[in-house]
Amino acid sequence: MPTDEITAAAAGTWTLGDRTVNRMGFGSMRITAHPDRDRAVAVLRRAVELGVNHVDTAAFYVSPGGTLQVGTGPARYATELIRAALAPYPEDLLIATKVGPGYDPDRGFSEAQTPAQLRAQVEENLRRLGRDHLDLVNLRLYRRPNPVPLVDRFGALAELRDAGVIRHLGLANARPEHLDEVRDIAPVVCVQNAYGVDAYREDDGFVRLCGERAIAYVPFFALAGTRREAGAAGEENAAVQAVARDHGATTHQVRLAWTLHQGPHVLAIPGTGDPEHLVANVAAGALRLTPEDLARLG
Ligand SMILES: NC(=O)c1ccc[n+]([C@@H]2O[C@H](COP(=O)([O-])OP(=O)(O)OC[C@H]3O[C@@H](n4cnc5c(N)ncnc54)[C@H](OP(=O)(O)O)[C@@H]3O)[C@@H](O)[C@H]2O)c1
Repeated sequence: MPTDEITAAAAGTWTLGDRTVNRMGFGSMRITAHPDRDRAVAVLRRAVELGVNHVDTAAFYVSPGGTLQVGTGPARYATELIRAALAPYPEDLLIATKVGPGYDPDRGFSEAQTPAQLRAQVEENLRRLGRDHLDLVNLRLYRRPNPVPLVDRFGALAELRDAGVIRHLGLANARPEHLDEVRDIAPVVCVQNAYGVDAYREDDGFVRLCGERAIAYVPFFALAGTRREAGAAGEENAAVQAVARDHGATTHQVRLAWTLHQGPHVLAIPGTGDPEHLVANVAAGALRLTPEDLARLG
């Protein structure tokens, strides 16, 4: 496909609360990895040029110093790179961020537990992004127990939603019962979980449940799979390779297309700091898999 025909709109749209976005979005966790700051800025601007209007981030996406990414030179926060690249922000751009995990240069990573800590993380996101409100905030949960009940943590964010500081709420790393726990507090517009063609398939039922409830399901690690933060390098699954060959596509494009074929409510946020990978990922939104392809991919 000629580059000037590549658009994030090819994957169709989904409405998160009152905000319609292209289903092909962008995950910003990887943009802090490369030492060249200008390259990160260029990738973000190119994503928007290609029609991406759903960018996922977090105030704790930072390099160097964290365990999520390594790099050299002065600290680079993904949120600050987004601000440098995209402010003043286009009207139709939805920036999704997350709270729960936090990063402090002196203490490293920690989890916000109290409502006050969560509010402080919201403030940090506002400050780094240079905004007076946040479009979408995901409360990122951990498997380990948190001494503060979920209803109290989500309730603190719901109060900020009522105040207009946060427009929409979601849950990340969640299970179906979490949706039920917060049901009476505020609407959940999306669930962001690890999921891919050959990873975390225990979420298949959750993907369907979100569709039934008109909640967006936003997979992360759709490319990296169980290699998680280590990235997408590694041996490729034979079925993915075969489908890619048939379509003249890359295996990464097939992986992204597969997620988008799991339902109209599934949104992609592939993460890359590489300009060429970005273009290939956006192009994957136009890839149409056949029922035979989907059967082969399981
Ligand atoms: N809610 C949560 O707890 C949570 C957790 C993790 C991530 N996230 C979000 O989800 C987004 C996606 O996750 P992710 O970035 O970790 O993983 P991912 O999208 O599954 O994969 C990223 C990996 O794939 C590589 N890659 C991307 N496009 C490629 C292409 N076209 N060809 C070859 N390699 C390619 C990247 O390296 P290059 O940079 O070299 O392209 C990187 O190694 C993140 O950016 C972040 O916004 C959320």
